[in-house]
Amino acid sequence: MNYETVKAYWDEVFASEETRVPLEKSIGIETLDLALDWLCEGAEGVLDFGCGNGVTLCLCALRGTKRHVGIDLSPAGISAAERLFAEAPGAGAGEFLVGGVERLANMPANDMDAAILFNIADNLPPVDAAYLLEQIARIVKPGGKALLKLNPYLTAVQIAAWDIKTLEGDLLDDGLYLWNKDTAFWRGLLAPRYAIEKEADVYYAAHDQHNRLFLLTVK
Ligand SMILES: C[S@@+](CC[C@H](N)C(=O)[O-])C[C@H]1O[C@@H](n2cnc3c(N)ncnc32)[C@H](O)[C@@H]1O
Repeated sequence: MNYETVKAYWDEVFASEETRVPLEKSIGIETLDLALDWLCEGAEGVLDFGCGNGVTLCLCALRGTKRHVGIDLSPAGISAAERLFAEAPGAGAGEFLVGGVERLANMPANDMDAAILFNIADNLPPVDAAYLLEQIARIVKPGGKALLKLNPYLTAVQIAAWDIKTLEGDLLDDGLYLWNKDTAFWRGLLAPRYAIEKEADVYYAAHDQHNRLFLLTVK
């Protein structure tokens, strides 16, 4: 497992699907709709790390944000995001960069009002996940907001039953990286730089799957 494998996986996903411009704010999951409403209220600049095809940034634009930066490892994801912003009426500015956490180092401090980390922080090896949280807290202004959405925590029974490989410690290989830590661990990791304003469960009925959502403000 390395980032080339991850990139190839997502390139294939984004190259094989059609990205449609969202025409309305709702994505049909009330918890996420309300979280995006909260994130975008009063925000102009939003950074989405692991932005994929840019749809979430487009949903922010529909909520009134003006400046959008997306970073993703997948060139096919970034091309889809660029097309989306070119096609979306009144989407505002969109800047999209191919790359990983190293892309964050050159971004100015206190430059963004909000950040989105959806199904990305726990899909990185621990050293990169910790660096991501550190950099987001630097780039987003103090008092600015962030949404962190995590995959479900897997029990030892699930890991064995689904034949998921262990790379090292709690870093698993389920086809992608999965840093499998419980919610209490994530609260501790966030505590030095973020205040947790709210935690919520996001239920994806289509996949019968729950994600863990944190509404954060930068300290
Ligand atoms: C589960 S998808 C989530 C996409 C998007 N955030 C969403 O919620 O629709 C994970 C995304 O993270 C990207 N990704 C994975 N590892 C990455 C890394 N190290 N740096 C940047 N992007 C990465 C993938 O290319 C993919 O677009």
